[in-house]
Amino acid sequence: MKEAVVEKTVTVTLRDVEIPTPQPGQVLIRVEVSGTNPKDWKVPKLFSGPTLNQGDDIAGYVEAVGDGVLTFRKGDKVAAFHEMMSLHGSYGEYAISWDYSTFHLTDKTIFEEAATIPLAAMTAALGLYQRLSLPLPWNPTDTPSPLVIYGGATAVGAFAIKFAKLSNLHPLIVVAGKGIPFVETLIDKEKGDTVIDYREGEEAVRAKIRAASNGRPIHHAYDAVSEKGSLQNISAALTVPAAITTVLPPKETDSFPEGIEVRRTYVGSVHKPPTAWKSIEDKEFAAAFFQFIGRGLAQGWFSGHPYEVRANGLNGLEGALKDLEAGKASAVKYLVRIGETEGVQR
Ligand SMILES: NC(=O)c1ccc[n+]([C@@H]2O[C@H](COP(=O)([O-])OP(=O)(O)OC[C@H]3O[C@@H](n4cnc5c(N)ncnc54)[C@H](OP(=O)(O)O)[C@@H]3O)[C@@H](O)[C@H]2O)c1
Repeated sequence: MKEAVVEKTVTVTLRDVEIPTPQPGQVLIRVEVSGTNPKDWKVPKLFSGPTLNQGDDIAGYVEAVGDGVLTFRKGDKVAAFHEMMSLHGSYGEYAISWDYSTFHLTDKTIFEEAATIPLAAMTAALGLYQRLSLPLPWNPTDTPSPLVIYGGATAVGAFAIKFAKLSNLHPLIVVAGKGIPFVETLIDKEKGDTVIDYREGEEAVRAKIRAASNGRPIHHAYDAVSEKGSLQNISAALTVPAAITTVLPPKETDSFPEGIEVRRTYVGSVHKPPTAWKSIEDKEFAAAFFQFIGRGLAQGWFSGHPYEVRANGLNGLEGALKDLEAGKASAVKYLVRIGETEGVQR
């Protein structure tokens, strides 16, 4: 089968490899559509390691299952979060996932929508519920609870808005720029949600975050940007004790007012937690939450991110990753359809 690997220069090369065999607990999926993520160019460029097929967002059909897999069988329509930095990612004709990070799709969900979801939506959910301990969406709060979501047009931030609404967390104070028109389709202004334009500069952003809570203290923030001064802008507007979850590690030189706790979200903790982290919890959380997402898609109360299908399948991947690197993506996830790759027969 064909698969694509991403080099340090963010150059994509196609190669022929054997179709993998699923190990116990694993699912082999014939990939129809793959999502892309910023890590797919960051990991090869910024870290040393083997040249890998970096794709982690899988949508397709189950081809085979390993021992002990009870809930999937050949032909099932599924989406899955591939284990990051492991072999057999979604940039290939077949990919491997674990059963606990795979969920069923009904006929009504198209692969393109599904492929926008696994990695980014799980990052959003882990941050809100495992790092910030906010009310779960099946037990929504009835207490007004302001929440800052910084980067509301990022895929992670947009999913955080969707989950926060299911948890009835309001007012949502969302920071975005070019993607503001999209964010406005997600927030609920009647419940006090607002969107603030980061292009107005840090002073305006800080003042507007504070004003948007209407006098209520803000104790929680999801920082889906975690660079370009976002953490400082958020910290300046929070009331201690407060917690911010970030998607990138804070810089060593960053300092925060006393009483503000910064808790990092790392979606890889679902599969392989950093040694110091509690592990089982994120894996079991993901196992349950992916099924919840699948039910939301089937029942229509959850949806994917806007997307753009890049031409020519895996042959179009390099352009997509370079556009991600250049910061061109605004409120969009780039996708590739594997069947459009030169030499792939479907
Ligand atoms: N820790 C983890 O496990 C994990 C998991 C997933 C992603 N990440 C990281 O999280 C970040 C977001 O990932 P993603 O896939 O969601 O990204 P994405 O959808 O590709 O992000 C693109 C968006 O970034 C927004 N943006 C850029 N600068 C901004 C700023 N200063 N303030 C607010 N928004 C800004 C843009 O908003 P506008 O269009 O509104 O201008 C754009 O829509 C990346 O750094 C990624 O590497 C980490």
